[in-house]
Amino acid sequence: MARTAHLVRRFLGSLRPGGPPGDEVLWVHAQLLPGERAIWDAMSGPDRRHSVAVARRVESQLGTPVDRPVLAAALLHDSGKSASRLRTPARVGVTLAAAVRGRERMAAGDGRAAQYLRHDDLGAGALERAGSDALTVAWTREHHRPRSTWTVPPDIADALHAADDD
Ligand SMILES: [Fe+2]
Ligand SMILES: [Fe+2]
Repeated sequence: MARTAHLVRRFLGSLRPGGPPGDEVLWVHAQLLPGERAIWDAMSGPDRRHSVAVARRVESQLGTPVDRPVLAAALLHDSGKSASRLRTPARVGVTLAAAVRGRERMAAGDGRAAQYLRHDDLGAGALERAGSDALTVAWTREHHRPRSTWTVPPDIADALHAADDD
């Protein structure tokens, strides 16, 4: 029940269009490589707000300073969502449909819903081409996969996973 209430709050919050405040944007830009910055800037306002919230939670969990590639992973793990250009209500529909029809089957198709469901692989590929650190790329690729398959060091992966509320 608490989980449902949390998801409803997240949904309502993600209908608000703006990005994070200017001082947070400056902080984010200071953490990212130039190629990563362009990818982060292209994310939707709600996705950028989510990314900052995750990065700040990782900081409070691991204690500052956090290694830059770990912060980049927190900030960019969902960056592949931009490719589908789906907004929040459509994303909810896709997520529900994937729960009914099977995520893997839907992700294997064409179109924007499949692209959205493959945001982990799409994001990881773009970050690799942008010159991101191997850890940043690995977490982006692995963040929806089973824990037993993670290659990121367990303490870092656990902090990134616990900080991600979607
Ligand atoms: Fe994700
Ligand atoms: Fe996320």
